[in-house]
Amino acid sequence: MWPGVSLLCLTLLSCLCHGRGQEQASLSKVSDPAGHCLYTFTVARPEEASCPGGSSSGEETEKVLARLTLLEAVVSGLVAAGAKAGDVGTEGLQEAHARVTRERNQMQEEQKRMNRQVQELQSKLLQLSQEADGLRTSRCPQTGSTGGGQNDNRPISDPAYDPGTYREMKAEVVTVSSAQLSPEGNLSLAGCGELVSVEDPVLHRTADSITGKYGVWLQDPEPQGPVYTNRTVWRLDAVSRDVRQLFAYEDLDQFSRGSFMKLLVLPEPVESTGATLYRGSLYYQRRRSRTLLRYDLSSERVAARRDLPHAGFHGQHPYSWGGYTDIDLAADERGLWAIYSTEKAKGAIVISLLDPRSLEVRRSWETRIRKNTVANAFMACGRLYTVASYAAANTTINYTFDTATGEGRAVAVPFKNKYQYNSMVDYNHAQRRLFAWDHFHMVTYDVRLGGAGAGAS
Ligand SMILES: *[C@@H]1O[C@H](CO)[C@@H](O)[C@H](O)[C@H]1NC(C)=O
Ligand SMILES: *[C@@H]1O[C@H](CO)[C@@H](O)[C@H](O)[C@H]1NC(C)=O
Ligand SMILES: *[C@@H]1O[C@H](CO)[C@@H](O)[C@H](O)[C@H]1NC(C)=O
Ligand SMILES: *[C@@H]1O[C@H](CO)[C@@H](O)[C@H](O)[C@H]1NC(C)=O
Repeated sequence: MWPGVSLLCLTLLSCLCHGRGQEQASLSKVSDPAGHCLYTFTVARPEEASCPGGSSSGEETEKVLARLTLLEAVVSGLVAAGAKAGDVGTEGLQEAHARVTRERNQMQEEQKRMNRQVQELQSKLLQLSQEADGLRTSRCPQTGSTGGGQNDNRPISDPAYDPGTYREMKAEVVTVSSAQLSPEGNLSLAGCGELVSVEDPVLHRTADSITGKYGVWLQDPEPQGPVYTNRTVWRLDAVSRDVRQLFAYEDLDQFSRGSFMKLLVLPEPVESTGATLYRGSLYYQRRRSRTLLRYDLSSERVAARRDLPHAGFHGQHPYSWGGYTDIDLAADERGLWAIYSTEKAKGAIVISLLDPRSLEVRRSWETRIRKNTVANAFMACGRLYTVASYAAANTTINYTFDTATGEGRAVAVPFKNKYQYNSMVDYNHAQRRLFAWDHFHMVTYDVRLGGAGAGAS
């Protein structure tokens, strides 16, 4: 019954957008008995909303505003023409113009109000589904709980305090067998040298609720257009037991301002912060599984699914901050990658190059660096880079592994965790920037790469 409640809220949510029904705005002209020429503007209000089937409120209002702007231009033209000819209709036109302006202002207010309502409903929905989940799990026997139990007086509905979510792998000291690294790969990438420096983070947006403590935000480095471009911003808040809401923003400006262009509801829930965007698809790990999904953004369908063979999941090999970050997907100049570990690798980072269409593993490399000792990792120019700490304000990228040579080594590139809880770091090769989510803060870092070609010399 609880899932039923969530469903109901979702339906409500999707109906909140403005109706498409009243697209008409018209201008008519009649003579009144006194011999004046009266101009009448009819502009439909967006109030009686019906389900629009996909169009967002922002989009709709923008269309209305565009029409109004057009009408204003017509009115201005007529006013100018009227003034020239000394026409008696001028006053009426000015009045009409003022009315149109008033209505536009009203609509802008309306738009703001709708945006607020959408946001309220979203947090309500999230809260309900968390409560539902809480009820469900409290009835089931807990297996393999990491303890912590019912301590403190922390709010139950706050998933960030769930001991399960925060499970960190601390035990397990294993000798890593010397990896079988074959140096046969030779992936020359002109202009794609090693990472030289990472600039200071630039803040773009701060999440305003607990669901945004950590998450994923990205732009597609190789968008497939025409609907979504390299300006589109995508965001997934990852603090929830049922992460399915993918927000799309027209561009960085809209993203920073706060309203969104579209909300896509994913058919299957997302695990943690390892998702990535590449060539018109969202790639992500299905919750509590090693299943990878490719969700096509334009058809809004799952276009491919495949298990990542032997990959640890749900707390077996997470990054040091925990959060079920077992499987991290990444895209770079070379393609689509999975960063994870397996039982055979005994917790050492395994890198696999994936077929972006089918999600099949094309080739894998095993490193000697243990996944749960690093805070995060990303791929750039076919090289893995790992961040030493997620919490230290001044830390370093202290290890790199080159898939072209099959060799890894220590490096020391300074890196700042300005907000001291960095849960996601992904490289965008089109922009040569890192996108990161650092304790409610969505930031980017410009990076500098060496000019040299491939090879760690
Ligand atoms: C590897 O790449 C270098 C250039 O970076 C090239 O000179 C060499 O022939 C390549 N080797 C193989 C085996 O492809
Ligand atoms: C998007 O692509 C255009 C054309 O390729 C480029 O000029 C622009 O800088 C890109 N914008 C972003 C945000 O990547
Ligand atoms: C990088 O830093 C982490 C955390 O301080 C440490 O555990 C790891 O051994 C370091 N790796 C290298 C290659 O220095
Ligand atoms: C971090 O490094 C900057 C210089 O890059 C320095 O000004 C700052 O005090 C350092 N912060 C900490 C906490 O060490």
